[in-house]
Amino acid sequence: MSPDELKTALNWRYATKSFDPAKAVPAETWDALLDSLVLAPSSFGLQPWKFLVIDGADCRQRLRENSWNQAQVTDADKLVVFTTRTAMKRADIDRWIARLSGVQGQSVKDLGGLAGIIEGFCQRMSPEKQHEWNLRQTYIALGQFMAAAAVLGVDTCPLEGIDPEGYDHELGLIGSGYATACACAVGYRSADDHTATRPKARYPRDEVIEVHP
Ligand SMILES: Cc1cc2nc3c(=O)[nH]c(=O)nc-3n(C[C@H](O)[C@H](O)[C@H](O)COP(=O)(O)O)c2cc1C
Repeated sequence: MSPDELKTALNWRYATKSFDPAKAVPAETWDALLDSLVLAPSSFGLQPWKFLVIDGADCRQRLRENSWNQAQVTDADKLVVFTTRTAMKRADIDRWIARLSGVQGQSVKDLGGLAGIIEGFCQRMSPEKQHEWNLRQTYIALGQFMAAAAVLGVDTCPLEGIDPEGYDHELGLIGSGYATACACAVGYRSADDHTATRPKARYPRDEVIEVHP
């Protein structure tokens, strides 16, 4: 992909208000977008999230009722709910260290120093701060997911206009150690979505990017 093609894709992306309910994301494209979630970076690699792909029409309808009645929730081909680990406990760290060891071949014992550093880092945070920290990681996955979708010509709408507790209730997350952060509708814009042609409104580049020599 050339730099110009990247810019074109990012300018093409917009928060889609009206999806074409008849248009489905091809399986191979969807598979790549799911990988963009799995491959998202996170602090220490801890991946404090779970992404719920909501297929059921009834569930989507109930979630729409917890989303200011936003039509994207039911009309887009796919809906992903981004959930965040509500805390970061020693068991989470041990699970990650075991995975790291399994994939990269270092023994769990050799990774003990890293485990200690992560635990120290986490213990300096209150449970509320840990939840907040995990939320920040989760939004990185959202950004990567939307950028990847744009590159593949797939429309998205990030959704924070939702009642996260209502989602938690509908999705059986209460007491699970995960809580809803946000959602993202995925599919293709409908021909009559006039917001698609609104000029992108952003501050000028020199107001948001400062180069410090
Ligand atoms: C975290 C987040 C939550 C958002 N929640 C909603 C939402 O609930 N409904 C909606 O229509 N747009 C939502 N948006 C879209 C923003 O309004 C939109 O990205 C912003 O106005 C810039 O426009 P653009 O993305 O079309 O360029 C959200 C965006 C972000 C990043």
